[in-house]
Amino acid sequence: MSTAVRASLPYGIQSGGPLTALAPMQDVTDLAFMRVIAHYGAPDYYFTEFLRVHGQSHPEKHILRSIDENTTGRPVFAQLIGEDIFHLTRTVDELRDHPIAGIDLNLGCPAPKVYKKNVGGGLLRDPDHVDRILGALRAATPGGLFTVKMRIGFENTDNFDRLLDLINAHHVDLLSVHGRTVREMYRCEVHYDFIARAVARVKCPVLANGNVTSAARAAEILKETGAAGVMIGRHAIRNPWLFRQCREIFSGQPVTRLTLADVREYVERLYRSTWHEGFPERAHVNKMKKYLNFVGQSVDADGAFLHAMRRTETEAQLFAVCDQHLLAEPEREFVPEPYPGVIARPNCETPAAVDGCSLESITA
Ligand SMILES: Cc1cc2nc3c(=O)[nH]c(=O)nc-3n(C[C@H](O)[C@H](O)[C@H](O)COP(=O)(O)O)c2cc1C
Repeated sequence: MSTAVRASLPYGIQSGGPLTALAPMQDVTDLAFMRVIAHYGAPDYYFTEFLRVHGQSHPEKHILRSIDENTTGRPVFAQLIGEDIFHLTRTVDELRDHPIAGIDLNLGCPAPKVYKKNVGGGLLRDPDHVDRILGALRAATPGGLFTVKMRIGFENTDNFDRLLDLINAHHVDLLSVHGRTVREMYRCEVHYDFIARAVARVKCPVLANGNVTSAARAAEILKETGAAGVMIGRHAIRNPWLFRQCREIFSGQPVTRLTLADVREYVERLYRSTWHEGFPERAHVNKMKKYLNFVGQSVDADGAFLHAMRRTETEAQLFAVCDQHLLAEPEREFVPEPYPGVIARPNCETPAAVDGCSLESITA
C-alpha cells in the first residue's frame, strides 16, 4: 500500500448532496458531448471513454482532447481497459501530464470481443489478477485518485464479495457499480440489491449505475441502495438536463419540466457541436441517429419520431423530421421516463461488428 497522503474526491456542485457522474460511453462521451451536457447542467464528474491498453497502445488523441481541452469546469477521470500490468502502469505514467482527476479501471465492458481478451468484464472471472492489477494501479497513483467501475460479476455473482474486499484492500477511492452481470448485458432489470451490498461492504463512496432513467428514479435508487450518488449513461443522452434535474430533486426543488421545443434546440446544439471539418454529411447524420435513438424514447408513445428519423439521409431531411415531430406541438412535454416499448436500437447504417462497448452494441 502507498503511504502517500492521497487526494480526496473533488467536491460536487451541490455541496453535501449526492454525487452525479456521466457514465463513460465509447463513441459518445467525447469532448463535444461533454460540452453539450455541461450546457444543460454538468454532472459532478466526467469519465472518459475507455483508453485501450496493450503492448502497442498510447492514449488515443481524441480521448486526450476530452481531458486537455475540457472547459466544463468539472473533473475528468481517465478510464483504462486492459489486463497487462506493465502497460497499464506505463499508461498511467503517460497520463501524468494531463489534467485528470484520477484513473478509473474498467471491470465491466460486456462486449464478447473485449471480455474474450480478459479485459473489462472478462477480468471479473479472475479475482487473483484483479488483485494484482488493483495493487499495481494503486501504487502507480500515489497521492492521486484511483477509481473502479465494475459489473456485479461475469456469469454469476459468486466473486462479488471477494472483489469488493479487494476494492477495500487496495484503498480504491470511488466505486461505480453497474448492477448487472456481464452475461446479462443490458437485458434484465438492474440488481440494485447488489449495489446496496457494495455500499454496505466497501469503505469508499459508491455510485449506483444502471437504468437511472429520471431524477425521480435517481432519488429512489439512492434511497434503495444507500449509494453516495448516481452514474448515468444512456438516459443522459436522451435527456441532457438530467443532472440538473437530479440536483433539483436532491435539494427538494421542483424538477424542471421539458418541452419538445427544448429538445429541438438540444438536437440543433448536438448537431453543430459534433460537426468537424471534413465530416461527410451522411456520416454526421448517421452519428446523430445514434443519439436520437435514445432521445426518441421520450418524444412520442408510438415511436413515430424514431421511425421517421431512422430513414433520413441528409441534414435537411433530419431537421425536417425534427421540425415535424418536435415543433408541431412545441409545448408538449418531453416526458421524464422513456415511453414503454419504445426501444432505442442501433440503426442499420452502422457496422454490426463491434470491438467494445459502443452504441452499436446496445439494443435496450
Ligand atoms: C454506447 C455505450 C458505450 C459504453 N462505453 C463504456 C465505456 O467506454 N466504459 C465503461 O465503463 N462503460 C461503458 N458503457 C457502459 C455505461 O458506462 C453504463 O455502465 C451502462 O450504459 C449502464 O448505465 P445506463 O443505464 O445509465 O446507460 C457504455 C455504454 C453505452 C450505452
